Amino acid sequence: MNFSLSSKAIASTKADCLVIGLPEKGTWPDSTNQADEALGGLIKTLQKAGDLTGKNATTVTIPLTDQPWSRLLVVGTGKDADRTPANYRKALIAMMTALKDGPSKSVAIALADTPVTGEEAVSSEAARLSLIGRTLEDQLYTFSDFKSEKPADRKLNKVVVHASNAGKALKDAFNLGLATGRGMNFTRDLGNTPPNICHPEWLAQQAKKLAKDYDSIKTEVLDEKQMEKMGMNTILAVGKGSTQPPRLIVMEYRGGKAKDKPHVLVGKGITFDTGGISLKPGEGMDEMKYDMGGAASVFGAMKTVCELGLPIHLVAVVAAAENMPDGEATRPGDIVKTLSGQTVEILNTDAEGRLVLCDALTYVQQKHKPHTVIDVATLTGACVMALGSHAQAVYSNDDALSEALLEAGRDTGDRGWPMPLWEDYQTQLDSPFADMQNIGGPKGGSITAACFLHRFARDVKWAHLDIAGTAWNSGGKEKGSTGRPVRGSRVWE
Ligand code: BES
Ligand code: MN
Ligand code: ZN
Repeated sequence: MNFSLSSKAIASTKADCLVIGLPEKGTWPDSTNQADEALGGLIKTLQKAGDLTGKNATTVTIPLTDQPWSRLLVVGTGKDADRTPANYRKALIAMMTALKDGPSKSVAIALADTPVTGEEAVSSEAARLSLIGRTLEDQLYTFSDFKSEKPADRKLNKVVVHASNAGKALKDAFNLGLATGRGMNFTRDLGNTPPNICHPEWLAQQAKKLAKDYDSIKTEVLDEKQMEKMGMNTILAVGKGSTQPPRLIVMEYRGGKAKDKPHVLVGKGITFDTGGISLKPGEGMDEMKYDMGGAASVFGAMKTVCELGLPIHLVAVVAAAENMPDGEATRPGDIVKTLSGQTVEILNTDAEGRLVLCDALTYVQQKHKPHTVIDVATLTGACVMALGSHAQAVYSNDDALSEALLEAGRDTGDRGWPMPLWEDYQTQLDSPFADMQNIGGPKGGSITAACFLHRFARDVKWAHLDIAGTAWNSGGKEKGSTGRPVRGSRVWE
C-alpha cells in the first residue's frame, strides 16, 4: 500500500475515489466546499433532497462520470459539538469499511480539515492526520496465514490524504500514525499465531528477525542454561512442564545519546497458559495463546520506535515460557529462589505471569541501570472482572510516570485506569515457609499480583500494565488480538 500526503487543490487531485466529510449541520470544511464546486453543486442538491444526511459514520458512494474521480464517497461526520475523537474515529472506520473491499485502486481522502472537539493533543490537524494514518493501517489488517483459501488481493493500493500543507510537522504526524498502526499489526500477528508455532524459541526468532530488519536493534537471547547459571529460577520453574524451553529475549534500541539510561519495557510472554498442575478449566482455554500479549505489545512498540527512528534508548525484554502440566512440572508448594535472592512459595502454578516477570524485572535492573521500567502483562482474570475490556490497569510507584501513561491512553483512546499499590495488600502475600507466596486471597487479585511485582521493583521508577482485559477480543468475527496497548485501540470508546 502506498500512503502519502498532498496539499494540492481538491479539483486537481486525481483518484478513483474522492472521500469527503459531510457534517450533519453547520459549516462545511473547505475540502467539502471545493468538491461541491467541482461537481457543480451536486452535494448540496443531494443533501437538500435528503439523500445525504451527514449523520456520523454513515457512508454513501456516488458514481461519477466525466470527473477526475470515478466515484465520490461521502462520509457523514455528525454535528460539530458531538465530534469527539471517538466519533471521528468511528467515521474513519466507516470510511475504511466502504473502501477496503471496494473497486477503487486509488483514493484521495479529504477528512483532515474536519474539526474535532477536545484539547490540542486530540483536536489539531496533526492529531487528525495521526489518527487517519493509524486507522488506515489498523483497518486494513488481515490475518490469513493459516487459511488454505487466501482472500482475493485487495484492489486498493494507493491512498493520498489531503492536508493544509505537506510540511515536516504534518508529515511526521501522519507517519507517526502509520508507524503506530504497523506496530499494532505486528503485535496482532504475534498474538494471533497459534501456540503450536508461537513458542518461546519462535518468539526469540522474531526478535532476531526484527534485528535484521532494523540496524538500530541488537538482540540477545538467553537460553535455559544461561538462565540457570544466573539463577533465574522462577522463569525456569514456569517452563519446567513444557518440552519448549523458556527464553529471555532482550532487544536493545539505541537512538539516543550514548550515555542515556534506557527506558525498559518488559513483556509477559507465556506462549500458552494451561495453568500447569493448577490446571485451568477447559472452556475457552484456546484464548490462553494470547497470554503472550504483553510480549507482543513490547515487540509492536519496538517496531514503531524503529520505524520512527526516535531519539531514545529503549530496551525491550520478553520473558517467554510455556506453562504446561507434566511429570517435571512445578508443584503447588514448591519453593524457588528468584534472581533477586528472595524466595517464593508457588502455591498456584497458574499464577505464573508474576513468576516470569519478577526475574525479568531483577535482570533489567542488574544489567541495564534503567531510567524507567514498564512491564506489560495479561496478568489476572481479576483485572478483567474489575475493568472489563475498556481500560488496562495502571500501577506505578511514581506519580509522574503513572500520569504520563494515563495521558497517552486518553490521547489515543487506548485508555488505562489507575490502581493502588498500597502496602496494606502486601500481607496477603506472606508465606509461613518462604519470603512470599505467589498468590493472595480471593480479594483484589489484580492488585495483589501487582504488589508481588512491586517487591522486585522497589528501587526503580516502575509501572505495571495489566492488559488481561484489553489485549484481545474474545467474541465472534472480531475474535483476535487487538494490538493494545501499542498506543491506539481498534475500537475507541
Ligand atoms: N493468564 C492468566 C490471566 C488471564 C485470565 C488473562 C483471563 C486473560 C484472561 C494468568 O496467568 C492467571 O491464570 N492468573 C490467575 C491468577 C490466580 C491463580 C491467582 C487468575 O487470574 O485466575
Ligand atoms: Mn496462569
Ligand atoms: Zn497467564
